Amino acid sequence: RTVAVILAGGTGTRLGLGIPKQLLKIAGKPIIEHTLAVFESAPEIDEIIVLMAAGHVTEARRIVEKAGFRKVTTVIEGGDTRNATTRIALDAIGDEDCNILFHDAVRPLVSHRIVRECVNALWTYSAVDVAIPSADTIIQVDGDDCITDIPVRSSLRRGQTPQAFRSGTIREAYRRAEGDPNFAATDDCGVVLRYLPGTPIKVIDGSDENIKVTHPVDVHLADKLFQLAAARVPRLADERSYREELTGRTMVVFGG
Ligand code: CTP
Repeated sequence: RTVAVILAGGTGTRLGLGIPKQLLKIAGKPIIEHTLAVFESAPEIDEIIVLMAAGHVTEARRIVEKAGFRKVTTVIEGGDTRNATTRIALDAIGDEDCNILFHDAVRPLVSHRIVRECVNALWTYSAVDVAIPSADTIIQVDGDDCITDIPVRSSLRRGQTPQAFRSGTIREAYRRAEGDPNFAATDDCGVVLRYLPGTPIKVIDGSDENIKVTHPVDVHLADKLFQLAAARVPRLADERSYREELTGRTMVVFGG
C-alpha cells in the first residue's frame, strides 16, 4: 500500500504573490490541482494526503471535490516548516506499515515514470530520492560571498521530489530527530541521512521538467511546459523527441 503526501504547507514568500503559490493558476488550473492529478491517475498510488497552508484548507478541499479526486482522503493544515509539515503527515498516517511518497505541491510537472520508479525502488531500498545532474558548476561560498570550494560536478545532483520511504524508516528518523535541539533539515532524505546513518538512499533520475515553482520566471516556464504537453509535444522525459523538434527548427533557420 502506497500513500502520497502532498506538501502544500508553504506560503511562497519568494514568489511574493500574497497567496500560497500552490493556488496560483497555470494552464487554467491551480498548480496543486495539476500535481494531484498526476498522483490520482498513477496506478501505484492508493491514497493521497494533502497538507495545506493555514487559512487555505477549505479552498484546497474545494479543489479536490470539484476535480473529483477519489484517492484524496485527508486535507489538513501543515506546519510552520517543511519538516513540521512532514511530521503532521506522519501522525495522520499513523502506525500503518506502508510506502510513503512526499511530494512538493509546487512541482506540478512530475511524471508517472518518476512516481513508478520511486515505488519500484522501495522493493529494494527503504529510502529513495529523485535528482538530476547539475548543468551549472556548483560553488560553495563563505559569509563574504567568496568561494571556499568547487565540488566535482559529476558527483553532484540537484534534488527534486518525490522522496519515498518505507514508513518504518522515515518514522524512526523523525523520532530520533525529535530529541535533537539542533534539528535542521530542508528535506526528508536529509533527516534519514542524518539520523539513520548507514541507510542506503537510492537516487533515481528526475527530469528537467519537474521544476519547483519558486521564482516568477518558473511560472512562465511551467506555463510553457503545460502548453507543450497540451499540444502533445512529447514530454522532456523523452529528450530525443525534443532534440528532433529542435533539429526541425535549425532546418528552418539554415534552410536545410
Ligand atoms: N512546504 C510545506 N510546509 C511548509 C513549508 C513548505 O508543506 N511549512 C511545502 C511547500 O508548500 C512546497 C514545498 O514544501 O510545496 C517546497 O517548499 P518551497 O518551495 O520552499 O515553498 P514555500 O515555503 O511556499 O516557498 P518560500 O520558501 O518561497 O516561502
